[in-house]
Parts: sequence; structure tokens; C-alpha cells
Amino acid sequence: MTGRSRPGVDADAGPVGAAPALEVRELSLRIGGAQILEDISFTVPTGEIVGVIGPNGAGKTTLFNLVSGVHQPTTGQVLLGGRDLTRASITARAVAGLGRTFQTSSLFPGLTVHENARLAAQVRAGRAISLFTFPRRGDAASRRATELLEEVGLGHRADHRAGDLPHGDKRKLEIAMLLATDPQVVLLDEPMAGVASGDVPGLTEVIRGLHRDHGCTVLMVEHHMEVLLGLVERVAVLHFGHLLAMDTPEAVMADPTVQSAYLGESV
Ligand SMILES: Nc1ncnc2c1ncn2[C@@H]1O[C@H](COP(=O)(O)OP(=O)(O)O)[C@@H](O)[C@H]1O
Ligand SMILES: [Mg+2]
Repeated sequence: MTGRSRPGVDADAGPVGAAPALEVRELSLRIGGAQILEDISFTVPTGEIVGVIGPNGAGKTTLFNLVSGVHQPTTGQVLLGGRDLTRASITARAVAGLGRTFQTSSLFPGLTVHENARLAAQVRAGRAISLFTFPRRGDAASRRATELLEEVGLGHRADHRAGDLPHGDKRKLEIAMLLATDPQVVLLDEPMAGVASGDVPGLTEVIRGLHRDHGCTVLMVEHHMEVLLGLVERVAVLHFGHLLAMDTPEAVMADPTVQSAYLGESV
């Protein structure tokens, strides 16, 4: 128990005494006259997978931007593993174990799948990222890249141009690159967007592996409810910048506030 009690906060999150993997406290963002997010508080214990849903414009991506340091909140705090990183840089948060993928692909499209993965592994190895280092299959970063590509099921695509991959494989590559950085908390923004339906189960398994095989704590924005319900332990519902509910999928779907917020809208 954290001993604190705030609206929207699961006070039972995590084992006694352990800091949650992620905690946001009374987070708000105002841009110009617009209140983009208001008073968002929640905790995510280590190893949990949480879904984030809400209509377009609800503030889901903005919440991820505040957690990852793309934006600074107007008020409130972001804690990773109990450390207050509210004012820390994006890089400092990555070093502290935060990894994220973006709503649009962030790969180097002209490089091969293996070269993309190797660059991510090089960064992890503490070496300067370099497109000009001759890719030697034998070096540690290269071996790690090969391992991770096998893990996400892209071993056979290692020599393909990343830009030519179907969406589902691009997402798998992004996740392999994320894994190269050994993240503790992973933010996935609409990983299924644009992915062909036949590729959804494979990508779902890769996301499950983040949690099962790597012990990552995962927050994912996803409109694909079947995917979410098969993966997540809790769902956070954002609506016009407010956290309406955060609970098990069953409890959230049964919540009258959530139901009325979604009346006539697709989630
Ligand atoms: N940098 C920004 N400047 C002004 N408004 C922004 C900015 N970023 C996001 N917004 C606004 O914040 C709201 C939430 O956006 P976003 O987080 O992208 O929503 P979602 O990911 O839930 O679809 C939207 O109304 C959007 O127009
Ligand atoms: Mg978004």
C-alpha cells in the first residue's frame, strides 16, 4: 500500500514497500488557452500491462509525451521506479529505463532491418550511433541485433530494407529496437495502427513477450479492443484530457461514466 489516496489511483499497486514502475501525480498540461490534460494521477506496478483508450484528441499521445519528456507538464509529477523525473530530459528518462514507440514509424527506412536493430544495440552498448561503421556481423551489437530480430520473428527479413516492410513487421522491428535498450517501462502508441489483420496475432505475441520474457511494464494506447482485452490487466480511459476510469477491462466497460462518455463514439 502506498498509504496515499487520490482519485483514480490504485493504492494497492505493487508489493509492499516497492515503488511502482510508473507513477504520475496530478499531471496537467495547458497549451495556450487549452487544457490538454487535467489532474491525471495513477500508478502502474512493475510488470503490469495497461491499456490506454479514449476517443481521438482525448490526450493519450500527450500523456505519453509527458511521461517520456517530449513535453513538460504545467503542473504535476512523473516518477519512474520512485524517482521523480518530471524535469529530466528524454535521454535521462531513456537511461532510467523508459522506452517508447511513436504513433508513426521512427525507423531508418533506407537501412536494412539488421542495420536498424544494430544501431539500437550500439546505443545500448554506449557507443556513438554511427551509420558509417562497417556492419560486422561478429561484433556484440550485431550479435544482439540478430538475437532480437529472431525473437520478434524477423530473422528472415534481416537484409530487407526497413522501409519496404509491411506495417506489422515495422512494428516488430521497432519493438526489437526498443528491447535493445533494455527498457523497464515501455510506452506503445497505437502499435496495431495500419497493421494487416493477419499480422495482428503475431504482433500481439511480441508485445506479450515484452511483459512475459523481459519483465517490462507496458502502457499501450490501442483502439483495437480485442487486442487490448487479450493483453492488458487494467485499462485507463481518457476523455477530454481527464482520466475517467482505470480498472480491469470488465469494470471499465461496466462503468456508467465510461458508457455515457462513449455513447455514439467508437473507442
Ligand atoms: N503541441 C500541441 N499544441 C496544441 N495542442 C495540442 C498539442 N499537442 C496536442 N494538442 C491537442 O491536445 C489534444 C490531445 O491530443 P492527443 O494527445 O494527440 O490525443 P490522442 O492521442 O488521444 O488522439 C488534441 O485536442 C490536440 O489537438
Ligand atoms: Mg494519439
